[in-house]
Amino acid sequence: MPRQDVLQELNLWPVWRLRADNAPKPAEDTAAVSAPACAPENRREAILKMDWAALKTAVSTCTACRLHETRTQAVFGVGDEQADWMLVGEGPGAEEDRQGEPFVGQAGKLLDNMLAAIDLKRGRNVYIANTVKCRPPENRNPEPDEVAACEPYLTRQIALTRPRLIIALGKVAAQRLLETDSTIASLRGKLHQAEGIPLIVTYHPAYLLRSLQDKSKAWEDLCFAVSAMQGLQNTAQDAS
Ligand code: URA
Ligand code: SF4
Repeated sequence: MPRQDVLQELNLWPVWRLRADNAPKPAEDTAAVSAPACAPENRREAILKMDWAALKTAVSTCTACRLHETRTQAVFGVGDEQADWMLVGEGPGAEEDRQGEPFVGQAGKLLDNMLAAIDLKRGRNVYIANTVKCRPPENRNPEPDEVAACEPYLTRQIALTRPRLIIALGKVAAQRLLETDSTIASLRGKLHQAEGIPLIVTYHPAYLLRSLQDKSKAWEDLCFAVSAMQGLQNTAQDAS
């Protein structure tokens, strides 16, 4: 679909045209004498060594935080496991919890169209993951201890994929990946680093669905991401 049609369909046109040119370490194990295999430090270390298959199994059976009690299923992540682009959202919503795939509800439709607007497509050189893998009840934000419990999984997904660029979608992902309390407004428009990977920040698509005036900023962020990626690819070519 040509870019203009995509944007029109989403009521982003002509708004966008106008602009178109760590989580804390788990608490120390108190039963230090004979630490069981699932002690927090051991758990994190074990996860950080897993291959994709082991990681998927670990997530699907995980009970490390209270979110496992209310989930239908954990939502691992989807896409090209060697992608140049990685997008990180907040956590599954109702539809994601039902289908087991990130960003398949309303916000996901907008995300797919944002990707299309910069000639990207789910699953093609793009990997999509969430900060927490299980749905927070009533779509509340994940609590800090839930984000901390889920931290090693995303860290391992990033290490296995080694994307060239991460886009943090919204506050929860940005604050977790950059280990900061800063706002999206103050973090966007800059090239950051997380887990040794260049990272940019933009608004969460669910927020954009409610906030028309920030759609043009999200479009600026996507343009910034495209030029950052071009710079990173050129640097990689020069080095080889
Ligand atoms: N919002 C998110 O942050 N992630 C999803 O997977 C869906 C909605
Ligand atoms: Fe485990 Fe993460 Fe699900 Fe919590 S949200 S149960 S840490 S997979």
